[in-house]
Amino acid sequence: MKNIKVVVLAAGKGTRMYSDIPKVMHNIAGRALIEHILFAVAEAGLTDFNIVSSDDLLANSDFATIKEIYNAKTFLQKERLGTAHALLAGLGKLENVEDPVLVVCGDTPLLTSKAILKLIKKFEENEQGITCVTFKAANPHGYGRIISEEEFVLDIVEEKDATDAQRKIDLCNASIYLFSPKVVKEIISKIENKNASSEYYLTDAIRLSNQHGITCNYICIDEAEVQGVNDKMQLAKAENIMQDRLRKNAMLHGVHLLDPNTVYLSANCSIARGVVIHQNVVIAKNVVLEKDVEILPFSHLEDCTVQARAKVGPFARIRPKTEIGEDCKVGNFVEIKASTLGAGSKASHLTYIGDAKIGSGVNIGAGTIFCNYDGYSKHETSIGNDVFIGSNSSLIAPVTIADNAIVGAGSTITEDVNENCLSIARARQVNYQQKADLIRAKNNNRNS
Ligand code: UD1
Ligand code: MG
Repeated sequence: MKNIKVVVLAAGKGTRMYSDIPKVMHNIAGRALIEHILFAVAEAGLTDFNIVSSDDLLANSDFATIKEIYNAKTFLQKERLGTAHALLAGLGKLENVEDPVLVVCGDTPLLTSKAILKLIKKFEENEQGITCVTFKAANPHGYGRIISEEEFVLDIVEEKDATDAQRKIDLCNASIYLFSPKVVKEIISKIENKNASSEYYLTDAIRLSNQHGITCNYICIDEAEVQGVNDKMQLAKAENIMQDRLRKNAMLHGVHLLDPNTVYLSANCSIARGVVIHQNVVIAKNVVLEKDVEILPFSHLEDCTVQARAKVGPFARIRPKTEIGEDCKVGNFVEIKASTLGAGSKASHLTYIGDAKIGSGVNIGAGTIFCNYDGYSKHETSIGNDVFIGSNSSLIAPVTIADNAIVGAGSTITEDVNENCLSIARARQVNYQQKADLIRAKNNNRNS
């Protein structure tokens, strides 16, 4: 089944998050909650995205980027009058709906494309009706309960409206459905708000459909996939589950995690086989680690590429727009930002490298600082191949140091250095013979 209209319900206020950020824009594994769901749905092959949004969400600039990436249409739901009201807002003109409609929620980031494909398959057995996604809840409190008979759902009853007997049911509604165009056109707009919350419940579509002779079947998926995020505790729980998945997936693809529970991965990173990641490492978003790279303990990497066999850390910080070449070595207390290091180059200790282009086979000595900022703007440093920078040097950008040059330790380099040149820029040392004793004698006299 190809053409399916996807409606993402995301106009919720997220009151319990106590945050100025719209709920669905909170991140887990370096990706917004709503982006996780869009990613999963796109992975299942669907492309027609319609997001029911609040004012806050529409005003969020990161959301604007996500909207563009997924080529999604947005629909403002001014008043939050319930899930059925939200769906109607996301559909535009009902008479124009020709395709089945998949409804998902923006705050269930753990749903997988596998579950969506299972839902689509089940719907193919019931193309004129509805297919619901259900799960067995360890604690069903608060969820809509599934009233079923054999393979069909007859009704979904919300906690507030349920009888004691119905509250004992542990098969619950995940709030993910596939509706036929017929149901969308003929049933959804008939839903009323005569219930304990005076809301337009989308769940009522099931009872109304049954009354009109339209059947509703269902699939059951793992509860972990439909974990909603309503507060910061659930956000942390979802992060945990997602981290577990990402770590398992990395290990199953040949990545060695020395202590998986201490390694944080982003959903947007690519880690090749043979990579070794030591304890307490954060691989934030957009990181590419090529084959046999080793990341030593307590390192933080974001938006960077580390090429084959390079070693990074311990205690290294690799910031956005950095490219570390093959066989490079970036050691302890080294920070690199928006820079490239050519193959085999080394910065082994206590160094800041910012806005630099560094060739191959370069050695950056301990304590070297690339002075890229003059308090007003950033400037670039360019270093050729096989250059040696002595320890404790300051390179004042903009500056160029050409191939094969050597910079003496402790230099403050303010002018370009030519190819093959030895540059020393520090005060010349003066040795006064026997002067130490003279100074001691003088001071001893003063003290007595
Ligand atoms: C809903 C289901 C319940 C199910 C549960 C699963 C209904 C009536 N109940 O309950 O059966 O077990 O989800 O988590 O549907 N939203 C809007 N606009 C609105 C109302 C909601 O966009 O006017 C969005 C919310 O942002 C959220 C989603 O719809 O993403 C679900 O709404 P929510 O209020 O969380 O429904 P529940 O009470 O959890
Ligand atoms: Mg909810």
